[in-house]
Formats: sequence, structure tokens, C-alpha cells
Amino acid sequence: MTTTGIPPLPKAELHLHIEGTLEPETVFELAARNDVALPYRDVEDLRARYEFTDLQSFLDVYYANMAVLRTRADFAELASAYLRRCPGEGVRHVEMFFDPQAHTARGIPIEDVIGGLTDAVDEHAGSVSAGLILCFLRDRPASEAADTLRAAEPHLDRIVGVGLDSAEVGHPPSKFTDVFDRARGLGLKPVAHAGEEGPAGYVREALDELGVLRVDHGIRAVEDDDLVARLRRDGTPLTVCPLSNVRLGCVPGIGLHPLPEMLAAGLKVSVHSDDPAYFGGYADRNYTAVRDGLGLSAEQLRTLAANSMEASFVDAATRDALL
Ligand code: ADE
Ligand code: ZN
Repeated sequence: MTTTGIPPLPKAELHLHIEGTLEPETVFELAARNDVALPYRDVEDLRARYEFTDLQSFLDVYYANMAVLRTRADFAELASAYLRRCPGEGVRHVEMFFDPQAHTARGIPIEDVIGGLTDAVDEHAGSVSAGLILCFLRDRPASEAADTLRAAEPHLDRIVGVGLDSAEVGHPPSKFTDVFDRARGLGLKPVAHAGEEGPAGYVREALDELGVLRVDHGIRAVEDDDLVARLRRDGTPLTVCPLSNVRLGCVPGIGLHPLPEMLAAGLKVSVHSDDPAYFGGYADRNYTAVRDGLGLSAEQLRTLAANSMEASFVDAATRDALL
């Protein structure tokens, strides 16, 4: 069921952290199954912690909740629950982020993480197309990112690209130049979070140093006219997450989100849900938020949805078949 009751626009979800789809109820179910002690009384008590002041205040809860994900079946169920929602949200194709270091650091084998996620992708292949993007945690050492890529190499046939996420400020893209060089050499598509909390200069660095093909968030790019001109000229896609930006205080309110400015500047922007279990909604709710909160027209919403399909890493023939 959509929030509008109108059939949702066909779209691609290109900025979704699969661990960010872990709903509070599932945290409790998995904790019981895996005998993990939680520091919350119940679902309401957990939800009450979802009052975030900035990116780090969210990441603290996001990583803590991952303690309940322990087995291949847990990862499969997490991704399966998300993929089951996709047809109802109009999502025809997903390129989902996952954070292997957040699991391997807890002793979970990377094979179980990737195996579980691909089990779900295969299970839902008849109803939604899906791929995986392996993200490096930018607040951990670059050497650990390199180790993670090496550990993932036996599974590269199931991985579309590499990304960069976690605490942004103080961890510029240039810290990861070498591992992104290696990933591109292996045929993986590079993307990175940049300009979410960090400055426009990080967006420039992600382009120059990492060779990214898409910028995740990139909202602070609007502070730099030359950068905006470059992004427009190159048609670089930006995956914008309005509800996330509001909930993490990256913008003061939905009505002040720079999305209309980005559209007016001719940027190839699309709208996505980031961590929907934490930020108040999946794809459709982000579309209704920008329609109601920013007054975007039906035509602008169609542009956002069309941009998402064009910005995906599927080839044109596959894209046409998905629409
Ligand atoms: N990991 C999960 N969500 C994230 C976000 N919004 N920014 C950076 N890293 C993240
Ligand atoms: Zn994100």
C-alpha cells in the first residue's frame, strides 16, 4: 500500500543500506533467536532512541543493532523482508549497500553476509532485480578496506560496485584512493557518500580521487557553483535521501531541502531512502515527503524516478525490460 493510494512510479532504489532496513520488531525477534542481550526494554524503548542529532548519533544505534545479525539465514531474512516490499513501492531494481566490516569485526564470516544477501536476491529474482554494493567504512583504516576487498574477491560475480559510508567529517575520500583503484581494476563500479555532512570539497575529491560514477547524497555540492557546473556538464547522478537528511539534521527541515535547487540547476538527482527503518519510510514516503514538503510537481516526480533508472548500473536493454 502506498502512502498516496496512487500506483507508485516505477523507480530504482540506489541508496539503501540493507542494514538500515532492520526494523525494531526484527531487532527483538533476532535477539531472542540468537540469544543476544539488548539494552532496550521493548520495541517502544528502542524506537525512543531514534531521535538523532547528527550522523554519528544515528550510526551509534545503527551499528549497535547489528549485533542481532549473526547467521547467513539472518542476512537472508533481512534482505528478503526488504525485497518483498519493493513491488508495492514501485521499486523495479535495487542496488543495495552492505557494510561487511560491521559484521566481520564481530566475527561473522563475510561468506555468511554475502551468502545470505544473495540467497534473498535469488529468491526474489522473479519480482525485483537486485545487486549488491560493498561499502567500506571510512572511519576505519584504509588497510582494513583493502583486506575487506580481498576477502570479497571470491564473490565478485555477485557484487556490482563499491561504496564509501559511515562517519564522513575527518575521513575524506582521498584516504581510500588505493582501494578504489584496485576495485575499479576488478571491474567494480565506484560510488561514495560525499557532501552529506562533509563539505563540497569531499564531493570533488570523490570524483577526482575515487573516480565515482555516482555521488551518494551530495547535497552540500550546492555550496560550490563550479562543482555544480561540473556535475551538470558530466551528468553525474546524485542519490538524494530527503527523510534521512531531515532526521540527521543535515537540513533544518524538509521545506529547506536543496532538492528543488538541484533540479533547477539541471543535476541528475534521484530520491532514495538510505536507512528506512530509522528515518520514517521507504521509497514511496520519500517521494510523498518531497511532493508535500517541497511542492514538487508530478512532472518533477517523474523526472526523479526516470533519473533513478538511468543512474542505475543496469544496461539500457535490461532497464527498458524493467520498466
Ligand atoms: N551508513 C548508513 N547510513 C549512512 C548515512 N546516511 N551516511 C553515512 N553512512 C551511513
Ligand atoms: Zn547512505
